[in-house]
Amino acid sequence: MNKKIFITGGAGFIGSHVVREFVNKYSDYHIVNIDALTYAGNLENLKDIERKPNYNFIKQDIRDAGGILALFKTHRPDGVIHLAAESHVDRSIATPTDFVMTNVVGTVNLLNAARETWKDNFEGKRFHHVSTDEVYGTLGETGLFTEDTPYDPHSPYSASKASSDHFVRAYQDTYGLPVVITNCSNNYGPNHFPEKLIPLCILHILNNKPLPIYGDGKYTRDWLFVVDHARAIDLVFHQGKNGSSYNIGGFNEWKNIDLVKELCKQMDEKLSRPSGTSEKLITYVKDRPGHDLRYAIDATRINTELGYTPSVTFEEGLSLTIDWFLKNREWLENVTSGNYQQYDAEQYGK
Ligand code: NAD
Ligand code: DAU
Repeated sequence: MNKKIFITGGAGFIGSHVVREFVNKYSDYHIVNIDALTYAGNLENLKDIERKPNYNFIKQDIRDAGGILALFKTHRPDGVIHLAAESHVDRSIATPTDFVMTNVVGTVNLLNAARETWKDNFEGKRFHHVSTDEVYGTLGETGLFTEDTPYDPHSPYSASKASSDHFVRAYQDTYGLPVVITNCSNNYGPNHFPEKLIPLCILHILNNKPLPIYGDGKYTRDWLFVVDHARAIDLVFHQGKNGSSYNIGGFNEWKNIDLVKELCKQMDEKLSRPSGTSEKLITYVKDRPGHDLRYAIDATRINTELGYTPSVTFEEGLSLTIDWFLKNREWLENVTSGNYQQYDAEQYGK
């Protein structure tokens, strides 16, 4: 088919798994990974595929409209899978404008470049915007987010992602740009940056540091193994209906405290430490402002329309994730040096 696909944010956590999925599965596609390599972008994540003939990397910031348009004009992609973003809620509370610039303005720059390059002849083209379940706000003790749940974002991060989703839909409605949006639940797995709950706790257990639990620990998230998110993106990119949104999730809710206890149990076993050792590190700390109580995805649409189901259970995925981190201590050391140490000190130092 010889398609050229731009994947933005391909050096990040989820993006690197999406790039790998596409490069390995579609030898007749050419995958161009476009990433600014912020603190969260790491080409080490792609070492195994960097020399494949159907892949190349271009360092480019999506906030730079001219640079983005030039790339579109030169490469004339057939499709875009857009993951580049500032992704961490706590950072968005500290520096919200960065989230507007990358997540909103950066997305609009990509939409403009796609429209301009495709010249309103959209045959065979597709813009896939990768978004989050956080746009729906928070659930109470019951209920699930469906694709029809009204948007109600609470953090600067989720407000910026909701805004970008609206722009993507507006470009479909106004200009006819062929778009799909996916809204996924919390991911976990290899290459997860250790500012997020699961990899942060793995790192802290290895270093015998406190495991910071915000508030009472009863906040609930719905967890999906990152490779299963990449598989879902592949399905929606190829088979999703133009103009549709698809929720992605695995019906896998965990209260934060229960998840961290499960992680402690598995870590103690794998590190041959006496049972209960890691749990002693659990420390309740000041809550996140505007903390959403509960996220839970109804993934019926992607399941029934596209036949999607996750490939691993949570216990298996968590075990694979811990094994990966234990085998890749050098990766952890590399990403936790420099700028990250400063962030970590500011966030948890007190
Ligand atoms: P991440 O922070 O690990 O990676 C983000 C990537 O984007 C990095 O490689 C970074 O270098 C790049 N980037 C950031 N700003 C950029 C800019 N201005 N120009 C070009 N590149 C830039 O994020 P992630 O967790 O892999 O999330 C990827 C996408 O998936 C995001 O859009 C996020 O909103 C969405 N998402 C994440 C989750 C999750 O649980 N992590 C769940 C649902 C949706
Ligand atoms: O729901 C999808 C979203 O999941 C994505 O859109 C975001 O990009 C991604 O970062 C993630 O957001 P969360 O805020 O849910 O993830 P995080 O790992 O930061 O936090 C998970 C839960 O754990 C949340 O309730 C806050 C809590 N937490 C987090 C950290 C970092 C703690 O209790 N202690 C911590 O130190």
